[in-house]
Amino acid sequence: MTTFADNTCAALARVSGDDLRVPLVQGGTVSYANFDYAASAPALAAVTERVSQLLPYYASVHRGAGYASRISTECYETSRDSVRRFVDAADDQVVVFTRNTTDSLNLLAACVPGDTVVLDTEHHANFLPWARNGRRVVTAAATVEETIGRLVAELCAKPAALLAVTGASNVTGELLPLDRLAHIAHLCGARILVDAAQLVPHRRVSLRECAIDYLAFSGHKLYAPFGAGVLVGRRDWLDAADPYLAGGGAVVEVGVDSARWAPAPQRHEAGSPNVLGVAALAAACDALRAIDAETQLAHERALTERLRAGLRAIPGADLLRIWSDSADAVGIVAFTLDGFDPGQVAAYLSAECGIGVRDGRFCAHPLLARLGLDGALRASIGLGTTSADVDRLVDALATLVRTGPSWTYARTDGHWNPTPETRPFAADAAGASPCALG
Ligand SMILES: Cc1ncc(COP(=O)(O)O)c(C=O)c1O
Repeated sequence: MTTFADNTCAALARVSGDDLRVPLVQGGTVSYANFDYAASAPALAAVTERVSQLLPYYASVHRGAGYASRISTECYETSRDSVRRFVDAADDQVVVFTRNTTDSLNLLAACVPGDTVVLDTEHHANFLPWARNGRRVVTAAATVEETIGRLVAELCAKPAALLAVTGASNVTGELLPLDRLAHIAHLCGARILVDAAQLVPHRRVSLRECAIDYLAFSGHKLYAPFGAGVLVGRRDWLDAADPYLAGGGAVVEVGVDSARWAPAPQRHEAGSPNVLGVAALAAACDALRAIDAETQLAHERALTERLRAGLRAIPGADLLRIWSDSADAVGIVAFTLDGFDPGQVAAYLSAECGIGVRDGRFCAHPLLARLGLDGALRASIGLGTTSADVDRLVDALATLVRTGPSWTYARTDGHWNPTPETRPFAADAAGASPCALG
């Protein structure tokens, strides 16, 4: 069954792989149901198109007078405007291109002139980098309200330069009230960084309206899987810090014993940049801006609610939450199935049903420990997800609980695999797998 929202979004934003068929262990193929958008999302058609258009002009950026170089440079630099428009950046905020969110956060961590306050619910990318220079960890409470109270207490007790928070949890999709947190940080004399890796693929963000100082996200989670990420943020710290990498492109003048560094963004973009990745990211920003935000939200809400309701009806399914009072969440649902190892469930969904989910601890070990779990399953929804996909996932899980798997599975080196594995992979596909081409 397909909902109105499915049709609307599918027409606006087609993704590559929406007609992909995958092999099953029991034989035959089935259309792939991708519930792993939160890990890496497929490319939007508009992104693939932009990259194909640019490829013939691919050449050095900032380093050549040839026509192709001029086009590549122009494309790279105007991509900053696409990002600025997408996040509604303020005039004093610069767009620095990076490899991904992890890279962006490590870059910023090297620029912060003081302590960073961070919650223990964060993805490792928004947790580990701050340890380098005065990380103060606040333990999240059972409610958002109480958690905010703890953040306020920490920020008031001792000055901090930065409050680092996640816009949307990569485990549960839960959202924090960013405008309120920005207000609190500023009242306490701190700035705010939002890890928007899971937020911007689902929701529009206005840095200006929310008064967010720094925002980081990844192209590959934003339907632009070509290796670029971004840090948008206030210029002064970025200009004052040492260059992220020392090298060509980041300098104005170099002597044998000296270097005069360029201001941001060039200061932190040494080396030949990833112009195709950046163009892809900009294309995704443009394409998402062109989609009506309400339509996208309605599509996601309808599917997420359908998934949650379906899971709740399965005996032994338990949906994870960080906070009992969180008001909203993006299309990410984490759950456990009583009596089943998450890894085995994920292997079954893949092998017998052609469904892709994520299992494990989602690069959020402290959060999973707080929830008393050493693993769970995560189903994440994106622009290519349909209600038929959701029903397939729910039915497959219900069948597993009712009858168990039809195949056998074994755990080797920490990973569950079907035994025997009959699906073709690179090693033995004889050309059937894309990895085996050539
Ligand atoms: C909330 C969050 N932050 C940061 C990251 C790190 O993103 P990347 O691996 O693209 O650097 C992820 C990746 O899953 C994430 O979900």
